[in-house]
Amino acid sequence: MSVHQEDSRKVTTHRLFEMKQRGEKIAMLTAYDYSMAKLIDQAGMDIILVGDSASNVIAGNITTLPVTLDQMIYHGMSVTRAVKRALVLVDMPFGTVSGNSLESLNAAIRVMKETGADALKIEGGREVSDDIKKIIDAGIPVMGHLGLMPQSINKYGTYTVRAKDEVEAEKLMNDAKLLQEIGCFAITLEKIPASIGKKIADELEIPIIGIGAGNGVDGQVLVMHDMLGITQSFSPRFLRRYANLQEIIINSVGNYIKDVKEKDFPNDTEQY
Ligand code: KIV
Repeated sequence: MSVHQEDSRKVTTHRLFEMKQRGEKIAMLTAYDYSMAKLIDQAGMDIILVGDSASNVIAGNITTLPVTLDQMIYHGMSVTRAVKRALVLVDMPFGTVSGNSLESLNAAIRVMKETGADALKIEGGREVSDDIKKIIDAGIPVMGHLGLMPQSINKYGTYTVRAKDEVEAEKLMNDAKLLQEIGCFAITLEKIPASIGKKIADELEIPIIGIGAGNGVDGQVLVMHDMLGITQSFSPRFLRRYANLQEIIINSVGNYIKDVKEKDFPNDTEQY
């Protein structure tokens, strides 16, 4: 059994900052329910993200856009009930932080109050920085999310690598600096060239967590269903699969069906 837990104290935004200063990498993974969150926390994860990828891997949508605030709150409260050590982060879903600071703040307060999460993650740079600042000013820790922002997929039209040209790379750096300036405690960078991920991590004081942003950043995040091999159709270059749960689950369920059909289950010791 592989459990990495050198320090059983609760992970806080301050401890993440200290980890960056020490050069200790930060591990982050998604979870959406009580049972998996409990296992992931027991394994020693630093940050558990209740991602809006719930829209894809839990609800079966093609994009992250359909998941609602109420659904994120349901997943968030299921995860916080299980977690003792990791910092729990809930994604603000599409449309809840989009230029109306008062509405964004009310949505953010709902998530914090109803889930008991430690912090929020919000996609976007300058365009939503007033909303993010208002949320941070209300005492809610925020992790930014830049680079590929899946909530803007209809604007991009593609999930290809972002910030490959100079203009977009410069905007990315400026947005990252702005998010740090307004008080974000960390930033997720998704699917950008490794050289830019490293440059941003080197220039900023707050932790930079990458997903497809190379190994020069301060930590890594993956979607749990992808890294455990529950989903198999999604295979970007940045994904490392640590298990093939799809095969294990299909084989186990197949064996159960066979045992029922062949009247092997339940046997004498498995009944009252
Ligand atoms: O929703 C999510 O799972 C995410 C990760 C891809 C970082 O935002």
